Amino acid sequence: MAIHYSKECAQFQIDAKSFSYVMQVKDGFLLHLYWGEKLDLRDHAYMFWEQGRAAFSPRMENCRGFILDDVPLEYPCWGRGDMRTPALEIINPDGSNIIDLRYESHEIIDGKPGLKGLPAVYAEESDKVQTLIITLLDKISNVAVKLYYTVFEDKDILTRHAEIVNRSADSVYINRAMSASVDFDSMHFDVISNYGTHARERHIQRSPLKYGRFTLSSRRGASSHVHNPFLILTSPTADETSGDAYGFVLVYSGSFAAEVSGTQFHTARAVIGLNPEEFGWKLDAGESFTTPEAVMTYSPNGLEQMSANFHNIFRTRLCRGKYRDVRRPVLLNSWEACYFNFNEDRLKKIADCCADLGIELLVIDDGWFGKRDTDNCSLGDWVVDRRKLPNGIEGIYNHLQKLGIKLGIWFEPEMVSPDSDLYRAHPDWCIHVPGRPRSEGRHQLILNLSKPEVCDYIYDSLAKILKTGMIAYVKWDYNRNMTEIANEQLPPDRQREVTHRYYLGLYGLLERLVTDFPDILFESCSGGGGRYDAGLLYYMPQVWTSDNSDAIERLRIQYGTSLVYPLSTMSAHVSASPNHQTGHVTPFNTRFTVALTGSFGYELDPTALSDEDKENVRRTAAIYKEYGDRIVNGTYHRLRDPHMEDCAAWCIVSEDKSTCIAGYVLTHVRNYGPNERIRLRGLKKDAVYREKFSGKEYSGAQLCGYGIPAPLSLEYHSLLWIFEEVK
Ligand code: GLA
Repeated sequence: MAIHYSKECAQFQIDAKSFSYVMQVKDGFLLHLYWGEKLDLRDHAYMFWEQGRAAFSPRMENCRGFILDDVPLEYPCWGRGDMRTPALEIINPDGSNIIDLRYESHEIIDGKPGLKGLPAVYAEESDKVQTLIITLLDKISNVAVKLYYTVFEDKDILTRHAEIVNRSADSVYINRAMSASVDFDSMHFDVISNYGTHARERHIQRSPLKYGRFTLSSRRGASSHVHNPFLILTSPTADETSGDAYGFVLVYSGSFAAEVSGTQFHTARAVIGLNPEEFGWKLDAGESFTTPEAVMTYSPNGLEQMSANFHNIFRTRLCRGKYRDVRRPVLLNSWEACYFNFNEDRLKKIADCCADLGIELLVIDDGWFGKRDTDNCSLGDWVVDRRKLPNGIEGIYNHLQKLGIKLGIWFEPEMVSPDSDLYRAHPDWCIHVPGRPRSEGRHQLILNLSKPEVCDYIYDSLAKILKTGMIAYVKWDYNRNMTEIANEQLPPDRQREVTHRYYLGLYGLLERLVTDFPDILFESCSGGGGRYDAGLLYYMPQVWTSDNSDAIERLRIQYGTSLVYPLSTMSAHVSASPNHQTGHVTPFNTRFTVALTGSFGYELDPTALSDEDKENVRRTAAIYKEYGDRIVNGTYHRLRDPHMEDCAAWCIVSEDKSTCIAGYVLTHVRNYGPNERIRLRGLKKDAVYREKFSGKEYSGAQLCGYGIPAPLSLEYHSLLWIFEEVK
């Protein structure tokens, strides 16, 4: 049993392998007592010690109860004296915005219920999983909140979400409904998060928590390139292998907010959920609203363990489908090979070359439909451009069949170009405010997926092509942010629901597609990593990590992404040199070494390669095929931080610890630099490993203790080692 309730102490204790999470009911309030290293099972009431610090805040119940502003609350609400960031804000029928939640009941069940219409972590039969559901009620408004806590005991994961239930006879408005809130009795933390922009996503920032609110958010109608929907709090000295690390990830792809604040009493509160600046919901009598899910973990051993916990749960209990646990096909994507400039002949020549080099899947990127010679038209018209492909998709498919290569294709299903047959037929299907100009981004508008008929159109136009059975892989793109958000089918007081309804529409559409086409590998993309989030991973097990395909830039991007997301989800391709985005000239081996830490492929024109590079492709494709499964299921260790140092290094250790793939890249040369050696982690200390390329043998103890020398002196050069246990 992982969840315990003591009636005597009015306490809930949720135990995972390495942590405990404790709550207590006091005077009807649900207090948060503790989250940290695992405890034994006993009364923890001493952990709540009131100091009576008033500082101008009212006491509950006419000065007899405690001061809400100074107690750790499990799901804090607005209106009665807690002046910190609330988790819930409701507008009552009388216009007041008070909600006062008190414990009503609870139940503990085995397993994990799904979330209505939303992506979520799931449990399999073999999992040790229990769920606690605590119901809180505001007796005056008759609004109840059900708090869900599911613990994956062996995986050190706690998931949370809330369900707001309107038991009254009137409508209420939800202004804010966060998925999780955690109060800490200290603000002695560092905050770690991602920041970035298009083609520079998910760099890492770390700073001490200060007094005031620190908010990471998006109101772009997408999780965005700018911040990522997660938040990490660590003890100030925590590093990869030591110190406390708390992680919160939101399973959602739209606008979000993750906030942590340092309070007047030196405590901290972290909340994560839908962005209240971009959200509102009218809840009619008898209805309920489900928030997205927050996934939380705690590691007493630093960031590496925290990341490993997230990698494990996301890879095995969020991603789904037949590609979940296996390496992905080695692909070549046509984008940086041809951009819009291709036809059947050119694709066939590329395909012939792919067959010769050992590539298993050819992706036709943007440009195969409508009249799309550039990015200013045709989105929405998912009909083959016969000027380029006179024999349709079949023409290229039949050719690939003979070569034993699979076919992938690019769509941007959520978009419409004003210059398209779809827009001419249905100008009101895009997101817009009637009577206002429609802002275009990359010459395009967004289809309004909060309208069911639009989702049906997208389903039908894609299914028509997917049903032919020719397509093995879909790259699902999304290339702008939302503006002028409205849905004229909804009344004015429901307009703040539109972005969330959009995502409910998208998730429903994706669920239909992945259910009906279970053999297709879906990859999500949004100008690279503009929607790299746990929400989409439920439907698509990999993401085009960034439009920046430069190996040196990818070091930071992939390193930052790895804080939360597993390698199996990061698409990484060997691109041409000089790189198209940065002009960096890098050796082939460096491009390979960096791409090998993800779902692997090539982003170049193989017909333009020298014989030497063709041989490089052959050699490297074969290495990925041999080790791909071990990479997908392996444990990733960050060894050198490219944000802080003149190099990057990492290793991936297979589940059984018999294989270790280690990489090192020198990003900046300073003459007569240090004698670099890379200490590995995660190996069996008493095993002997042989390095594949040199044939040299080392003990695990040597590799972890002294490490492996990395004697490089040329910028952008790299070393790749593959250690295999000698049995
Ligand atoms: C986006 C993607 C690219 C490519 C182009 C095509 O920018 O991130 O990989 O597919 O669209 O227009």
